[in-house]
This record gives sequence, C-alpha cells and structure tokens, in this order.
Amino acid sequence: MATIAFLGLGNMGYPMAGHLANSGHQLRVFNRTHNKAQRWAEEFPGTACTTPATTTHNADAVILCVGRDADVRELLNDQLLAQLQPGTLLIDHTTTSARLAEELAARCAEQGLRFADVPVSGGQQGAINGQLSLMAGCAAADYDDIVRITAPYTRLIERLGNPGCGQKAKMVNQICVAGLIQALAEGLQFARNAGLDAEQVMKVIGQGAASSWQLQNRHQTMLNGEFDHGFAVDWMRKDLQICLQEALHNGSSLPVTALVDQFYGELQQQGAGKLDTSALLLRLPKSSR
Ligand SMILES: NC(=O)c1ccc[n+]([C@@H]2O[C@H](COP(=O)([O-])OP(=O)(O)OC[C@H]3O[C@@H](n4cnc5c(N)ncnc54)[C@H](OP(=O)(O)O)[C@@H]3O)[C@@H](O)[C@H]2O)c1
Repeated sequence: MATIAFLGLGNMGYPMAGHLANSGHQLRVFNRTHNKAQRWAEEFPGTACTTPATTTHNADAVILCVGRDADVRELLNDQLLAQLQPGTLLIDHTTTSARLAEELAARCAEQGLRFADVPVSGGQQGAINGQLSLMAGCAAADYDDIVRITAPYTRLIERLGNPGCGQKAKMVNQICVAGLIQALAEGLQFARNAGLDAEQVMKVIGQGAASSWQLQNRHQTMLNGEFDHGFAVDWMRKDLQICLQEALHNGSSLPVTALVDQFYGELQQQGAGKLDTSALLLRLPKSSR
C-alpha cells in the first residue's frame, strides 16, 4: 500500500481518488475549491489538504486529474517538483497535449522523478463504477507500478509507448467519438423528420452494424432533450483543438473532426458549453413539413 497524493477532485477525480482510498492506500487529496476536498474526506478514508505542497510531501505517487495543459503546468511547477522525493511516480490523468507530457517527462527525469501520461476513457459513470480504460505513455520500467496503483478504477490499461503516447491514443479516441456523435444526431433527426418512431429505430439498429457506446448510452437522453450531464462541450472542444494541432504536426487529415469542432464552437457561442457532447442534436432543424 502506498501514500498517494491526488490533485483534482472533479467529476472524474473525485470517484477515482475514492476507489484508491477504499482499496487501502493512504490518500491525501487537494482540490482548488477546498470544500470539495472536505466533502471527499467525509465520504472516504483520507486527508483533505489545503495546498499541493502539503498534499504531495513524501508521497510515493502523485496523481492528477485537472482540466487542461495550463492547469497541469500550474500545479506541477518547478517548486513543487523540486520538493518531491527522487523516484516519485507522477501519473497525469488529465487530457492534455502530447507535447506537455513529453516536456514534463523530460523535466521529471532530470530530477530523478518518473512521469506518465495516462488519460482515461469511460466517462463519469466509468469513474464511479471503477471501469475506466487507461492509455499509458510511460517508460517500460514504470508500467507495472502504474498498473498496480490504478487498478481500483481500471477496466483495461494498455501501454502505448513512451510519455506522450497515452495522449496521442486519447486523441484517436476523441477523433472517433466526434464523428460518431454527429452521425447519431443526424440519424435521430432524420428518423424524426421521416415520421418514424426514433426510439423503435434505435432499438433495431442498435443490434446491428450502427451500434456504438454513444447510441446505446445517449440516444434516449437525446430524444428526451436531456443534455445536462456527461462530458461537457467545453472539454470536447479543448480535446478536438489538441487533436487538430497534433494532426498538423504528424501530417494527418481530419476533415470530419474539423467540421464537428466548428459545430461545438457554435454551441459554445450559444452558451451551451456546459452541456453534454450529445447536444450536437440541438443544432439540427426539426422538419416543418
Ligand atoms: N468528464 C468526463 O467524462 C471525462 C472523460 C474522460 C476524460 N476527461 C478529462 O479528465 C479531466 C478532468 O475532467 P472532469 O470532468 O473531472 O473535469 P471537472 O469536473 O471540471 O474537474 C476539473 C478539476 O480540476 C481542477 N482544476 C482545474 N484547473 C485547476 C488549476 N489550475 N489548479 C488546480 N485545480 C484545477 C478543478 O478544481 P475546482 O473544483 O476548483 O474547479 C476540478 O477539481 C479533463 O482533462 C477531461 O478532459 C473527462
């Protein structure tokens, strides 16, 4: 059992840190908005700290799940890294650019620290159920420790390569998902406008080649007009910008991703940034015929 510092108790981090605490690790947690950390410590065995420095002091592993590149940079600043013990394992579950992961891994190595980018997939429900898919970018020698530590909230973990490769795999995930959600929104719109029972259509095509996680888990809420849950448009936009940027570097063409990114931009302009990504349906017209 290890002493683990967990930074960032958002929709994902809160239950993930909870699984670690319940599995017997010694947990110290930090959240920028402290009352969330206090609430967490009332629910799980562990200590709520008020600064990242006190949280990470003498920890065996430091785990992060915050928002974007700038947030990770802010937390893992030079001062914080300098006070960590040599050999400390840093696991970043935030979805960020691959460049950030590469840069942090190099900086950590200079100080004898071990850094891994391990973005996740499976949503808030996957985090609550301890059923996430993890994409690891790390030194081969660190992988077994990462597997052991993250086991309480992991359904499947794969090492994709050295630091940065986990984030690149997560980009593939987001590229695939973006097209799927838009296609599902178009299909639902078409079914309604064609005068079909959209629910009945989903029931039958959901057993065929058109099925997907999005169809199974989102068609009902989309038909009900419920979008106040799940994975926020703002986060998806952040992720798609990262994908498009990386594609410029590696020479990929992402026409559908670029289009869906624009659609999400429209939703943000309409004030729908906090809604679930399935809110793409809201952009599509209902037939007046
Ligand atoms: N939600 C999902 O379904 C999902 C799925 C896969 C991956 N992800 C990725 O996982 C990460 C977290 O997502 P989430 O849904 O848990 O987000 P969230 O609910 O918005 O939580 C973000 C957390 O990061 C903290 N934070 C943000 N900026 C910070 C900073 N500069 N310094 C310190 N703490 C900071 C926030 O603190 P406060 O409480 O003070 O705001 C909060 O605890 C994101 O990178 C997201 O893209 C999310």
